[in-house]
Amino acid sequence: MTIQEWTAKIKNKDLFISSAFIDGGWVSAQGGATFDVYEPSTEEVLGKVANLNRDDIKRAIVSADAAQREFYKTSTAAGRSLLLRKWNDAILANADDLATILCLENGKTFLEAKGEITYAASFVSWFSEEATRAYGETIPSSYANTTVLTLKQPVGTCAIITPWNFPAAMITRKVAPALAVGCSVVIKPPSETPFTCLALTKLAVDVGIPAGVIQVVPTKDREAATELATNPLIRKLSFTGSTGVGKMLTKLAAGTMKKVSMELGGNAPFIVFEDADLDLAAEAAMFCKFRCSGQTCVCANRLLVHKSIAPAFTAKLVKLVNALKLGSGMNPSTTIGPLVNRSGVTKVAKHIRDAVAKGAKIEAGGKEPSGPGFFHEPTVLSGVTADALVAIDETFGPLAPIFEFESEDEAVTMANATEFGLAGYFFSRDIGRVLRVAAALECGMVGINTGKISAAEAPFGGIKESGVGREGSLYGMAEYQIIKSVTIGNTHL
Ligand code: SIN
Repeated sequence: MTIQEWTAKIKNKDLFISSAFIDGGWVSAQGGATFDVYEPSTEEVLGKVANLNRDDIKRAIVSADAAQREFYKTSTAAGRSLLLRKWNDAILANADDLATILCLENGKTFLEAKGEITYAASFVSWFSEEATRAYGETIPSSYANTTVLTLKQPVGTCAIITPWNFPAAMITRKVAPALAVGCSVVIKPPSETPFTCLALTKLAVDVGIPAGVIQVVPTKDREAATELATNPLIRKLSFTGSTGVGKMLTKLAAGTMKKVSMELGGNAPFIVFEDADLDLAAEAAMFCKFRCSGQTCVCANRLLVHKSIAPAFTAKLVKLVNALKLGSGMNPSTTIGPLVNRSGVTKVAKHIRDAVAKGAKIEAGGKEPSGPGFFHEPTVLSGVTADALVAIDETFGPLAPIFEFESEDEAVTMANATEFGLAGYFFSRDIGRVLRVAAALECGMVGINTGKISAAEAPFGGIKESGVGREGSLYGMAEYQIIKSVTIGNTHL
């Protein structure tokens, strides 16, 4: 099928938008600049989107700042909760169109895209409920006739910079808590996948979220984007992406002491102990490693398998991987889609070449299919050595490298031998080991006997160089609030 035939499947054509959204209007960049967005399975241009310059972004920030003050002054928590509920309902009502747009710009399968839309809506629903629970406290004072209170207030205008791997869910996981507490947001969507963000914004405004409190500033101009980290009107910066860019943005944000949330890179270990249920572990590895073609920051990057069960586990995994069907995400029979761009494919190939040169064996896949599209075969490597690149570097692609270990201590030491600390997984039926290893893994999130840890109610975030802050859950809202301490003295008067 052609791109035109695929885009024809979008029923509500108003959702396929290529303009920026500034000060309540859908606008072009000053001078009319645009950038191309590609459909990953054909490498064809899907559309051209407004490429904003620094002045455009400044204008959005000034407008969002004014809108935030008005929004917080004139809305109640219950009112903001209701707006989010309506946004949730609109997202779910338009799930097929949103999933088509997401699938076309990101490449993940339509089924995965539809799952992501539900996942994205779950954050809106969750924070709709949390909006009315922004409780402060009363604190017994050490002074006579004095009461201490805390007020939780919105931090102000927030810059939101999101990644291409979850074009919908990473928008809602940040924007919903911000709106719940009365902040405004200026969103820079990823240049690979801006269309889903623009469609979600249209739905938000259609249900009555005041136009100025959401602004969308697509740009490919890195220098223009730094305005989001330096402008003094921005009081909070939330970023999901690489550790390198996260460090750079944190340094820039420090210039005006902005609050920051950084969801950065990972190098997740996935440990299979000798007492694990191997069928369960192999199924979970499939989800955890190959979801979104291996392009999630909580993906298993290193499969650490006890030597005694490595051949049996490898055989089970290889069987499942060989059953995957690589193709366009829009094709209903596809079970694994392309990567988002050419550099993603190049990195997978580089990690395979390097590991094989150091002694690893290709058990499944291993090749880049010929023809157009950013495809790489899902691949399993056995006998990977500790000096392989993939041991220290996140592949962000469909490569499952199997390393062997001989004791629990060795497995934990291997798991923690990374500067990252986002997610970690292990499989065991020994309760003592479950508690020991959960405590010993140096990461912000642990999955035990499951590869599925992401949900609106579960705190999401890392330690070490995987970042700071938590998203989703009851902690996610605090990232967009300040705690103001109010002391009332001489209450006897
Ligand atoms: C991410 O990869 O950035 C998010 C993954 C998730 O929410 O599961």
